[in-house]
Amino acid sequence: MKKAKVTVVGAGNVGATAAQRIVEKQLADVVLIDIVDGLPQGKALDMMQSAATEGFDTSIIGTNNYADTAGSDVVVITAGIARKPGMSRDDLLNTNAKIVGSVTEQIVSQSPDAIIIVVSNPLDVMTQLAWQKSGLDANRVFGMAGVLDSSRYACFIAEALNCSIKDVRAMVLGGHGDTMVPVPQYSTVNGIAITELLDAKTIEAINDRTRHGGAEIVKYLKTGSAFYAPSASSVAMVEAVLLDSGRVLPCCALLQGQYGVDNLYCGVPVELGREGVRRVIELDLNQSELVALQESVSAVKELASQV
Ligand code: NAI
Ligand code: 2OP
Repeated sequence: MKKAKVTVVGAGNVGATAAQRIVEKQLADVVLIDIVDGLPQGKALDMMQSAATEGFDTSIIGTNNYADTAGSDVVVITAGIARKPGMSRDDLLNTNAKIVGSVTEQIVSQSPDAIIIVVSNPLDVMTQLAWQKSGLDANRVFGMAGVLDSSRYACFIAEALNCSIKDVRAMVLGGHGDTMVPVPQYSTVNGIAITELLDAKTIEAINDRTRHGGAEIVKYLKTGSAFYAPSASSVAMVEAVLLDSGRVLPCCALLQGQYGVDNLYCGVPVELGREGVRRVIELDLNQSELVALQESVSAVKELASQV
């Protein structure tokens, strides 16, 4: 059987770690591309030299030439600059908009049938931009943030309850910024809502830590932002697409009337398959969750208007 082909654009922290996870899971052959000469080549060769020890049959090449990306099934865009202490994700807007716009055009010229998963920040606006530049149907272009934010939320929930993280399912909606909306009623331990298990004060403290989960790591690292959980989250989405699994994951998808929002990319639960977003799932939200989601949508709209 022909192996799937995944291109990862950006051979930095998130891109290289995502590429490593994809080849080690044997999901696809990988092309790692970056603007810096030698960086993707060196990292790809290093990863190939781990194949004998790790025992994977998938391959990875590094390149600076988009011709090598031709015919990709899935493309993950991580190119751009990352946050440093004191910077918000939104501070990256202008630099990353130029990078993501030009990367998308070059990707689509080589792989017109690809599914594109955007990771570069500010995520919601970069995903909308990539969709506009790509000319692809909106189901084929979506962004990674909700899987990461929900994964952080799940981590903090498991810690507070001292329970197995395997039983925790967490849900975070909205834009990938300080206005993101953790949703306790849809966050469960084996089906039991955390509102039944934790008091309101503890839940609010966990929600707040989740909203600032990225900044907490930037503060420690000082020279960049998180990449282990972000790469794992991106690869979960790649896997759902390649396996046509129908997993329901919170992703940044185009809203066309859902949640009362039109023509804007924002974080919502979607069903993912081989054609990308099969459908957006509309949750029944209470009044305070709806207000919080509207505030988050407004923040994304405001930022989008600056591009
Ligand atoms: P990094 O700085 O380690 O890597 C970025 C890479 O992009 C560099 O190797 C750079 O040479 C490359 N690059 C720059 N311009 C390029 C171009 N025109 N074509 C190809 N490659 C180009 O940064 P890191 O940590 O990997 O983060 C990448 C992006 O992902 C950042 O914008 C960051 O904010 C974002 N991010 C988003 C997350 C999310 O949840 N959506 C989570 C973590 C990071
Ligand atoms: C994060 O949430 C920086 O968006 C990145 O870690």
